[in-house]
Order: sequence, then C-alpha cells, then structure tokens
Amino acid sequence: MSDKIYPPSKEFVAGAHVDADRYEDLYAASINDPEAFWAEHGKRVDWMKPFTKVKNVDFTFGNVSIKWFEDGTLNVAANCIDRHLETRGDQTAIIWEPDEPGDAARHITYRELHENVCKMSNVLKNLGVKKGDRVVIYLPMIPEAAYAMLACARIGAIHSIVFAGFSPDALGARINGCDARLVITADSAPRGGRMTKLKDNVNQALLHDVNDVKCLVVQRSGDQIAWRSEGDYWLHEELEKVDSDCPPEEMNAEDPLFILYTSGSTGQPKGVVHTQGGYLVWAAMTHELTFDYHRGDVFWCTADVGWVTGHSYIVYGPLANGATTLMFEGVPTYPDAGRFWAVCEKHKVNQFYTAPTAIRALMGQGNDFVEKYDLSDIKVLGTVGEPINPEAWNWYNEVVGKGNCPIVDTFWQTETGGHLITPLPGAIATKPGSATKPFIGVQPVVLETESGKEITTTEASGVLALKDSWPGQMRTVWGDHDRFQATYFQQYKGYYFTGDGCRRDADGYYWITGRVDDVINVSGHRMGTAEVESALVAHSKVAEAAVVGYPHDIKGQGIYAYVTLMTGEEPSDELRKELEAWVRAEIGPIAKPDLIQWAPGLPKTRSGKIMRRILRKIAENDYGSLGDTSTLADPSVVDDLIENRRNR
Ligand code: WTA
Repeated sequence: MSDKIYPPSKEFVAGAHVDADRYEDLYAASINDPEAFWAEHGKRVDWMKPFTKVKNVDFTFGNVSIKWFEDGTLNVAANCIDRHLETRGDQTAIIWEPDEPGDAARHITYRELHENVCKMSNVLKNLGVKKGDRVVIYLPMIPEAAYAMLACARIGAIHSIVFAGFSPDALGARINGCDARLVITADSAPRGGRMTKLKDNVNQALLHDVNDVKCLVVQRSGDQIAWRSEGDYWLHEELEKVDSDCPPEEMNAEDPLFILYTSGSTGQPKGVVHTQGGYLVWAAMTHELTFDYHRGDVFWCTADVGWVTGHSYIVYGPLANGATTLMFEGVPTYPDAGRFWAVCEKHKVNQFYTAPTAIRALMGQGNDFVEKYDLSDIKVLGTVGEPINPEAWNWYNEVVGKGNCPIVDTFWQTETGGHLITPLPGAIATKPGSATKPFIGVQPVVLETESGKEITTTEASGVLALKDSWPGQMRTVWGDHDRFQATYFQQYKGYYFTGDGCRRDADGYYWITGRVDDVINVSGHRMGTAEVESALVAHSKVAEAAVVGYPHDIKGQGIYAYVTLMTGEEPSDELRKELEAWVRAEIGPIAKPDLIQWAPGLPKTRSGKIMRRILRKIAENDYGSLGDTSTLADPSVVDDLIENRRNR
C-alpha cells in the first residue's frame, strides 16, 4: 500500500464539474436531505409523467423493498436518443472500432442511432415481442448490440445480455432462467483475429428448447451458418419490412429495464434486476461526474456489453448524457499490445476506462507500445473490476497518463448499477490502490466481520456494507426475491452487504481488499467457485471438487481446483487437459481452471463441510497460517495436499 497522494492539477480543478468544496456540499446535501436532493437530481432524465414520490426503501430482512421515483414514467431509449436530436442530431453517438485495425471504423450519429433503434424496435414487435417480454442478447461488440438494448428499452421489453464468450450450456441456462422469447445473435464474429461461431452456439443452446424461442441473426462475418428448421430470421431481411417510426413506450420508473446474470457465492448465477428510472439517473450522473465528461468529449470504456460495465458506461450512461461513446470489437493485444493506445490516438479519446488486469498485461509488454502514440487528448483514466495494485496504478499514471491525468479507481458491482466509491477527479486527491471516497448519495460503512457491528472510528477494517439505498441499486433477483434478501440483507441486518472486505484509513479513504465470500475475480470477471465445482463434478470421472482463488500476477486471481477422482480413475496429464476443456465447454473460457491438483481427499469437518479456508491457504502457498486443523475428520489429508501442491 502506498502513502503517496496525488491531488489533481489546478488547471484540471478549474475546468472540472466538481471541485473539492462542491463535492463536500453535494455529498452533505445528499445525505442530510435525500428526498430534496434526489427530487432535484432525478430531473436529469426526462420524465413523461414527473414523479411525486422520491424514495421508498426498506432494508429490513424479510421485508426488503427498494423503490425510487416510483410514480414517474419515462422511456430510457427516448432519454438516450430522442431528447438529443434537436441539439445534437448530427453529433456522433457511437464510434465503432472493428477487430481488424485495417477495416473502417464507423461513426453513428444520434439521428442514425434513432433510425436504427426505431427500425429494430419494429422488427422486435413483428416477431411478437411485447412489453415485459424477455429478450436474450448474445452479440459481439458491434453497434447492433447497442441498437438491440435500446430497441428493447424502447418497446418495454427486458433484455438479458449474455457475454459472447459463454458456452452454449451457460447460454441455455440463462435463456431458460428468464424464460426468454427471443435471442438476438450474429452469424459469427472476430475477436482478436479469431472467429466465434455465435449462431452455432445458439443452435446448441436451443437444442432441447420447448418454448419455440425465436432467433434474430445479425450478419457480421458472412460465414456460412446452420439454420434451425424454423424460428430463425436475418435481421437485414426483417429490417426491409419495417419503417422507422416507433413511438417510445411509456414505462413506470420501477418496471424492469434489464436482467443481468452474475455469479454469487452459492449456486448458479442469479439474475440481477435493474429498473428504468433510478438506474438511468445513476448511470448518467456517475458517468458525467466520475469521468468529468464534458460535451464533445470522446469517451471509451473497454468493457464488453456482456458485463454491467458495458451496460452502464458504454451504452446507458454516456448516451443519456448525449456523449460520444466508443465501442471496440477487439482485444487489447491484437494485432499487438499497442492497440488500445492506437485507438486512443486515432479517435482522440478523452476519457479511457479499463480493468487492472488489462493494465498489468500491457505493462508487461514494455513502454514502447505506449510511447509510439499520441495520447495527449486523454484527460481522465479509469479502472474497474478488481483492486489495482500500486505498481500497475503507477505505470498507468506515469506511462499512459504522463502524470497529467487523474486516475479514477471506481469500486462498484453488477448489483449497484454504477459507481459507489470512486474519486471525483477534480475533487479528490488519489492514493494508488484506494477507491478513495463515496460517490454522492452513497453511505459506506465498515462492519466488524463477526459481530456485524458498525465501526465508527475513522480507521477501520472489516467488511464493506451500505447504509441506505441509492437510485441505481438492484431491486431483486429475477424470480427469486427471497434469494435477493438472503444474499444481501440477511447476514448484516439493516445493511446492503457487498461481499467485499475493506479498510478505511486515517484520511477516511476506502481500500477494497477483495471478496470475503466464495466469489473469485479472474481478470476482473466474477466467478462463483460453486459454478466451477458443479461443472467439474458433472464430469463422469470426477467424484468431488473444491475450487478456490489464488493470487495471479496478471489475472489478479487464478482458479485453483482440487479434484477427487472416482474410484478406479487414474490421474494423468491428459485427464487434466480433458477437465480443463470440459469446464471451458460447460461455462466458457474464462472459467477454465489455471491449476488442477489431484486430491485423494478434501479437508472436511466431521459434519462433512469442506474447509475452504485451508484450501485457500494451500493454494496461496501460505502454510504457516493454516489454523486449527484438529477439528477435521481426517487431518492427514492436509499433509498430502501440501505435499502435492501445484506450482504456477
Ligand atoms: C470487485 C464490476 C476493488 C469487487 C463493476 C466487487 C473492485 C466485484 C473494484 C464486482 C475496484 C470492482 N476495486 N475491487 N475498483 N471494482 N471490484 O459485479 O470485489 O463484475 O464486489 O462488477 O468486483 O464485480 P462485478
């Protein structure tokens, strides 16, 4: 941890939306009188029928209910498009940068965006999609992904995006999970020069479909693809049948806008539900203030729309603000490790937002890749997804930002809709590795891990929870409100529990120390250890599996799997490869175990509970602090595990 502190420059502060005094004022106002504060700031979106009720929140376990602006009506797509037409119809809304640097980028104006989204909305209607229906989007990073999201929003359908790197099985589970009527996909798509056959994956996912799920296909590559016997449609053919007139549906503030599946500490991924009004207010406000976005700036968030970061900071936040948002189809290292910086130079990017794992990977490739490019348009650099180590922070600051660009380390979650703890770049001096201070309206608390007591001293260490709600908070788990309450409100009564550990220093700065539950964070992607375990035990040769995270230089955390084979099965390198491929196929490449250790036995309590704490310590190579192992049913398994621990 570094004690160095980096205040923003005087010039930056002078031009910023929010300086230190204004932050103090806004923050105090938001906490002292949230009703009045949000009655005012809720106006940053256009309402069809203005709200009269601001906030109606109950965090009591058993009774959890979260509502913001509940009697207002609006349309999210109209807020992201129509209301900008008069003032900036010819301004670029989306810059699309394709996978191949030699292929032409596209600039889509707000007027063109309007036409594309209205037409796609009419296609959805023609295919029978109605208000409240669920639509799964399984697309690469092409403009049609944004059109599809906004078309759903326009007609009141609920989208659920599945990251295009997920396997057919994972896709199928999500299609069924939200009972979708339609899947929107592409034929196949390049990423880092390699093709993914998306339509094939959809066919496989729908192999046993009994619901007659339809499939709308964007032609991206022109590759030959297999059609099902019925229910498949080309987007370009359907577009010929519709006009570009589609009035936006009037939606209630608390109608669901989207479902996004995310990993938790138990069971299969849960469908996080965000609603229309509060989410949009939050996405727009955090986008503008955290990145100090000014009109005309080019904003680039490198995430995929398959993750929440892409929802809030490629599409909804920027477009609600009338921004120019860049959408990149490729990967940071293709054709070489200079691609990010080449794109920044080419499109004169002003705010750049990426993940620590990408920074660490690029840092390892040397500074030449950065220094060849003119990055002088960059004003703010952001990170998200996992704690950033000070080395990576310093490299980002010095080599990419030339010491001139505030770094915003934004802590938040799929559940929170947008930033929770982050510096506002003109207001808060940064410290490498700290997400610093709460965003306006956010009340973080540090609780004692065991007792759940709120620690009131400035310096504190424990788990991170939130006192009271903010407009962008998730409202429920799709189809399972009990699970929502049990996951976030049961353990620490009266608070929203993040699942993260945290330290608050003497200056009141927050340092996120990572998950305290069975969620691991691999290259900034959330992964439930239970998901990987259930994929492993689904293999016929596996009797039992336990998965933990371990520190990994590039990925932040790697996936370490302890596997007990069925009696009679012999461990071998081939079997190890087979299991890796199996998990890839069951979930997707991001879930492939980095290390698999054969475990004749797993450390269990006498009641049969696996002691993950011990497995974590062994994976971390930290045997000194294994703690008391005498309560184990068979303490000798620990010696065997230590002896046969796998090295990186
Ligand atoms: C972690 C991503 C430290 C954290 C937006 C959280 C972070 C989980 C940071 C949510 C950060 C995210 N510093 N840790 N700046 N940002 N995390 O749902 O553990 O994919 O709980 O949302 O990522 O991951 P999710």
